[in-house]
Amino acid sequence: MNLTDRPRRLRTDGVRPLVSETRLAPEDLIAPVFVDATTEERVPIESMPGHERVPVSEAVSRVEEVLETGVEAVMLFGIPESKDEYGSRAWAEDGVVQEATRAITEETDAYVVTDVCLCEYTSHGHCGVVEDHAADDPTLTVRNDETLDLLAKTAVSHADAGADMVAPSAMTDGMVGAIRDGLDDAGHTSVPIMSYAAKYESAFYGPFRDAADGAPAFGDRRHYQMDPANGREALREVRADVEQGADVLMVKPALPYLDVVASIRREFDHPVAAYNVSGEYAMLHAAADRGWLDLEATAHESLLSIKRAGADLILTYFAEDVAKGL
Ligand code: PBG
Repeated sequence: MNLTDRPRRLRTDGVRPLVSETRLAPEDLIAPVFVDATTEERVPIESMPGHERVPVSEAVSRVEEVLETGVEAVMLFGIPESKDEYGSRAWAEDGVVQEATRAITEETDAYVVTDVCLCEYTSHGHCGVVEDHAADDPTLTVRNDETLDLLAKTAVSHADAGADMVAPSAMTDGMVGAIRDGLDDAGHTSVPIMSYAAKYESAFYGPFRDAADGAPAFGDRRHYQMDPANGREALREVRADVEQGADVLMVKPALPYLDVVASIRREFDHPVAAYNVSGEYAMLHAAADRGWLDLEATAHESLLSIKRAGADLILTYFAEDVAKGL
């Protein structure tokens, strides 16, 4: 054979690291943490092995465990003590995320990002104010414009408690602008917004909804979260968020949407984040449990692929395990 181009020359152990295009680092990862106001002790999340809902009193120790692995950032989700129609515990000064944020930022060096949404706080489980007859007509659910003010109040209450960054995930049109205005008016001009800009109406959120008790009581989220069939529409969503002041652009879920990550990377200069969601975590665990997959290897390969597609940062339930192996 007269082959001049032999890519295999660069695959020896000695040279592979030199030519490797993508590398994972613990600093790229954000670990989700669930803080639960309804419990006094840590409760394991069955569908997400290794993860727990922790009471506010354990929030600091939970975050210290994350920091020990080299991961420096956490994303907080709250499970409130009570829910109502508007989700008012989401913006309460003594709410679960606010209390946890205060404790974590006072006692650790973690970079604290908070999820800004209402679905864990509303009695109906939707991400905003619902229409009167929504239960009877699934095409009507969240009232977009009335929800904006509640999201802004929630984000401001998180920043007041010390959150380093807020991450709105409600898929309400105009949410980034409303939150930016709210933060700026409250003096939080330096708190960045990581927008869940392209968040799909995905079946991969199942385990999270168990974990955070945030499944909708009726209907689904199809008319506010994106259609999995649409890729170009993600750019339109992202453009709107950029115009409204988003600092980091997130795609969620990650693995089934790497084309979207790659196209946002090409079109925009902002940092791109990808959320490797609960279902992506649970499926590897379930297969590994049966001896069908090597968990460590598939988790590492998953995160590497997300970075290769163009994500600068990755939110993942594998954060601690992968960081330990790096
Ligand atoms: C909404 C929110 C959800 C997730 C993160 N933020 C649930 C949803 O939209 O139904 C899902 C994360 C995951 O599945 O890991 N507050």
